[in-house]
Amino acid sequence: MRSRIAVYPGSFDPVTLGHMDIIERAAKQFDRLIVAVLHAPSKVPLFAIDERKRMLRAVTEHMPNVEVDGFGDLLVRYMRDRAANVIVRGLRAVSDFEYELQMASTNHKLHPQVETLFMMTSPEYSYLSSSIVKEIAKFHGPIDDLVPPLVADALRDKYRA
Ligand code: PNS
Repeated sequence: MRSRIAVYPGSFDPVTLGHMDIIERAAKQFDRLIVAVLHAPSKVPLFAIDERKRMLRAVTEHMPNVEVDGFGDLLVRYMRDRAANVIVRGLRAVSDFEYELQMASTNHKLHPQVETLFMMTSPEYSYLSSSIVKEIAKFHGPIDDLVPPLVADALRDKYRA
């Protein structure tokens, strides 16, 4: 039987507990879950691609069927290269829907064999985003309940006065 490989793509700048919630739950649904970190030279992230991947690898190392990789191509092309046909995305609120629908429809148009599977983010993380976490960290606010401990340390290092 063909193994079921899903890709969870994103910027992960940085990974939050909301992302972790999706990764943990999606990993249970597939033989393999590839967390694919976007490397977009036109976007200036807070964390370089290698830092984002390193943090993701550290926080997912207890999940043997999770792999962390980077991609800098059209997502559907990357999916073909990895023989994966399911894209996993988290939906937090209605406000996510329009953008997600546009992406899912575009990806389906480009590669009709690819399905996007949405998972509702657990309610306790429904407000959470990497941008919000960075905003709090910039003002030296409390971030320990929002990101894994090593990410909190990395954020504090970035914004050290
Ligand atoms: O975490 P993000 O920033 O919401 O993730 C967005 C991401 C990486 C999934 C999306 O920007 C993407 O897939 N980029 C790759 C380029 C691509 O394939 N674009 C066409 C789909 S709209």
